[in-house]
Amino acid sequence: MTNIEKIKKSKKRFKKILVISYIAFAALILVSIYMLHVRISSQESLKHFLNNTTQNSIQKQRYIDNFLSRSSNLIKAILSNDEFSSFARTGKNKKIAQDLFYSMIKIDKSYMQLRYIDSNGNEIIRFDRKDIGTKVFKQTDLQNKSKRYYCKKCASLKKSEIWFSNIDLNIEHGKIEKPIKPVIRVSIPVFDKNRYLGFLILNVFMKRYLNDLTESSIYDLYLCDLSGNFLISKNPKNNWSKYLNKKINALNEFDIKKEDFSKNTYFSKKHRYFIKTLKISGYNNLKLIYFENLKQKKLTSQLIQQRVLTTVLFAIFISFPFAYLVSFPISKLYDSLEEEAERIAKEANNLEIRVQVEIEKNHAKDRLLENQAKLAALGEMIGNIAHQWRHPITRLSLIMQNLKSLYDNKKLTSEMFNKYYKNSLEQIDYMSETIEDFRNFYREDKEKSLFNPSLAIGNAYKIVNASIKHEGINLSLHVKDKFSVLGFANQFSQVILNIIQNAKDALEEKNIKNPYIDITLYQKDGKNIIEIRDNAGGINKDIIDKIFDAYTTTKQKTGTGIGLYMSKTIIKENFNGNLYAKNWDDGAIFVIELDSKV
Ligand SMILES: Nc1ncnc2c1ncn2[C@@H]1O[C@H](COP(=O)(O)OP(=O)(O)OP(=O)(O)O)[C@@H](O)[C@H]1O
Ligand SMILES: [Mg+2]
Repeated sequence: MTNIEKIKKSKKRFKKILVISYIAFAALILVSIYMLHVRISSQESLKHFLNNTTQNSIQKQRYIDNFLSRSSNLIKAILSNDEFSSFARTGKNKKIAQDLFYSMIKIDKSYMQLRYIDSNGNEIIRFDRKDIGTKVFKQTDLQNKSKRYYCKKCASLKKSEIWFSNIDLNIEHGKIEKPIKPVIRVSIPVFDKNRYLGFLILNVFMKRYLNDLTESSIYDLYLCDLSGNFLISKNPKNNWSKYLNKKINALNEFDIKKEDFSKNTYFSKKHRYFIKTLKISGYNNLKLIYFENLKQKKLTSQLIQQRVLTTVLFAIFISFPFAYLVSFPISKLYDSLEEEAERIAKEANNLEIRVQVEIEKNHAKDRLLENQAKLAALGEMIGNIAHQWRHPITRLSLIMQNLKSLYDNKKLTSEMFNKYYKNSLEQIDYMSETIEDFRNFYREDKEKSLFNPSLAIGNAYKIVNASIKHEGINLSLHVKDKFSVLGFANQFSQVILNIIQNAKDALEEKNIKNPYIDITLYQKDGKNIIEIRDNAGGINKDIIDKIFDAYTTTKQKTGTGIGLYMSKTIIKENFNGNLYAKNWDDGAIFVIELDSKV
């Protein structure tokens, strides 16, 4: 995988991680916001519930107070009426008193009954109404009520003291009247100075008031007596539960402790209800229980949902630019990294192209060098041919001169002519043989073969032997170990020839006495070694490290500096071996190392 791909992959991975962590982070925030909201909202809604129910219960109490004062004002008004007082005292002008009662009961359609009962319990004046809103009529069937509890109660009242009964169901002839009629009695005693004459008593239909008390759009309201019996329940079947066979009680129904129920107000956080005591008078109280109704609960949860949704939307809306801002510099970093990697890749590509161009140039150079080497070899060959031919040509010209002088002096016999003729042919044969040797030597090998290195060295020797002999150089071959070499035999001979030629050049240049070239074949450390040693004084130290480079030469006019370069190339590439040189005391040693396993 290239670096750019790696960066791209890592960038992708980074984006993936960013998206995942963003989602995880957002989810975490959202969940925390949600939890916080739910908590805050439920606390808030509890607070609201408590505040609102408290407010509402105050209004309910006011409503009750209002009703009670209106009722008590009515009987107080009758009591303070002069016509009624004189009637109560004297029994005179009953008609006027009756008219007063009639006009008073008509004030409110909920007034059920208005009576004056004397101290013996006899009903003196009585006006009735059958149901709320029905017509008022004067009751003529007056009864004695001395046995009723309220008669006794009223006889014990102090002057101007108003008494309210419990709110209870109306009883007719000892039975609860059906349909049920919740009723309250309000009464005040009538005195003549300190003499108790009787009492005024007003019965009020309470159905409407009780309905008003328990009426609410946001709460389920229950009205109970102090023992927890329902007067009004959310389920109408449980209304007036104290009269039901199976007694149903708010304390059991809502799991309320007696001591909590007896408090003036009580708020249950856990069950979310609020209890308020409604005062009717000093002794008969009611309990109002508030529950949040379903609709309200739904509204509250809707409110929470709405809030959470708004916050979530807001969080999402905000988090996008935030995520962008966070990822922007890193993205930028990746971009510039990518750019840089691309630039480097491009440069590497260019470099590759440049290297290829250089390689191509090198190939061209190699080809040039090869050609130059061939030219040099040709020059050397011609030089060597000239050496080889020098003697036969000299001999031929001597023969020609001898023949001419013998002929001029008329001393040429047929015997002599034949001798010279034979000798000439020998010289010409020798020359054509030399040409053949050279032709063979410089012929290109067609294929690799296993050959004897001694023979290849012999072929090289044939090329230079004339000039070597001419210089008086002693060339010897020592075969310590016999081995074969795999490769192109002629190339190998050419390498040997190059080295011998160099040694010959050095020996000649330095004019060495007793010059020699020793070639030794031996095996060492699993290698086949051909060592060529001379006593020409050694390789110049300034160039010893560079003699295998092309164009390194000390022979300004005659040398090209390619001989050793080509030799090393051949040994390395075609023989898979090594060629190196070193000096010894008297001269140079060239070593060809070949793999013996070949
Ligand atoms: N036997 C040797 N003794 C001393 N110097 C040597 C010997 N062989 C090579 N050299 C040095 O190494 C140089 C390089 O040899 P190389 O054969 O590559 O080129 P050259 O002989 O100068 O020219 P040519 O291309 O004609 O062979 C020679 O010029 C010479 O200075
Ligand atoms: Mg040379």
